[in-house]
Amino acid sequence: MRLPGDKSLSHRALMLAALADGPSRLANLSPGDDVQATRRCLERCGIAITEEGRETVVEGRGGAFDAPRSDLDCGNSGTTARLLTGLLAGRGIPARLTGDASLSRRPMDRIVAPLTQLGARLKLSPEGTLPLEIRPARLGGLDYRIPVPSAQVKSALLLAGLAAEGVVTLRESLPTRDHTERLLQALGVAITSSQQRIVLEAGPHQIAPFRLDVPGDPSSAAFLTALALLLPGTGLSFGHLLLNPTRLGFYRALKRMGAQVSWTPQWTALGEPVGELTAQASAFSGIALEATDLPDLIDELPILAVLASQAQGETVVRGAAELRVKESDRIRAICENLDAMGGRVEELPDGFRIKGPTPLSGAAISTYGDHRIAMAFTVAGRISATPVTLDQPGCIDASFPGFHDLLAQVKPGRMVVAT
Ligand code: S3P
Repeated sequence: MRLPGDKSLSHRALMLAALADGPSRLANLSPGDDVQATRRCLERCGIAITEEGRETVVEGRGGAFDAPRSDLDCGNSGTTARLLTGLLAGRGIPARLTGDASLSRRPMDRIVAPLTQLGARLKLSPEGTLPLEIRPARLGGLDYRIPVPSAQVKSALLLAGLAAEGVVTLRESLPTRDHTERLLQALGVAITSSQQRIVLEAGPHQIAPFRLDVPGDPSSAAFLTALALLLPGTGLSFGHLLLNPTRLGFYRALKRMGAQVSWTPQWTALGEPVGELTAQASAFSGIALEATDLPDLIDELPILAVLASQAQGETVVRGAAELRVKESDRIRAICENLDAMGGRVEELPDGFRIKGPTPLSGAAISTYGDHRIAMAFTVAGRISATPVTLDQPGCIDASFPGFHDLLAQVKPGRMVVAT
């Protein structure tokens, strides 16, 4: 079993490789549609990207990009839209970013306001959404407190800061995934980060070409882990998994719930801890999660909700209003679908309450075109009395093509090993 490379790292590796002054070699990039969208947008800006054996070679041009002759289509990918805006804002080219219906509803003012303070010239739709127009601009400096915990906002500002003539100082209210900081540090860029305060020295910064074998995606692994916990006598072990602490909130929550999960970082790749994680079928109880717990498991809440329906006792998630502006309104999608399967669930304005354990029955799942909703309820369908059907099964390819094949290998009484 080979898990796809981490999606967050893949986007960032492609973008930083495009900035490097020479060819970078990347292996095990996420094969999902989201990362493909980033790749195609970069190619449209004149970056040559080719496959050589199992590596992807990105011909970085030291920060030079061509003005794209057509729109940059970010598909369903918020990370593409937000990080690419930062990457291109100070690169002297005009560009126009578009996305699919879901992405075109998501808030973009959260990056446009601070990027504008930095000197960028950007224009959004009157609703504050895509399409987004970038005009050539010179970027200065910025000292900004990010109001919502968002690694996409932080990363957009740091990528823009690489072309800025002033210092970029960012303060986070809660720590969010720190891949951009770690990669930049490992690549020798003058950036420091402590106590949720990040300082990127005045640019422009040069990046040397690099190699990265992208470790497996812990957010994809979460769906397989969840099923392993639910099926009697099942075990699962991942050998080459990204173990960045800002991505392990789901696994820490599982431990608090009493599930048998453990992990061991073994080496680092460009500053990112990588290693092994194992999980064993086990009984577990409900958990209470609040705002401070959430950034590290924000993408895992749909699958955590499915597990909560099988946990002893109550699970309460509060402070998760951000879930309403993800690929879908995930609070609504979780509650509606779990309810349809017979779960005991209450929707809250900023989260949900779930009572377990409850036997689940099959249902027609409304995915809202959201890959994580589709995968979470596919897992639920593996333990329900009758099967589930998904209205848009293809949306899973956003992050995890091959999901069904890997999930099919997780069976009662079996130990599965993934690399
Ligand atoms: C991501 C950040 C998170 C996360 C998304 C990936 C990233 O989004 O939900 O799947 O790669 O930076 P927000 O920054 O909107 O919280």
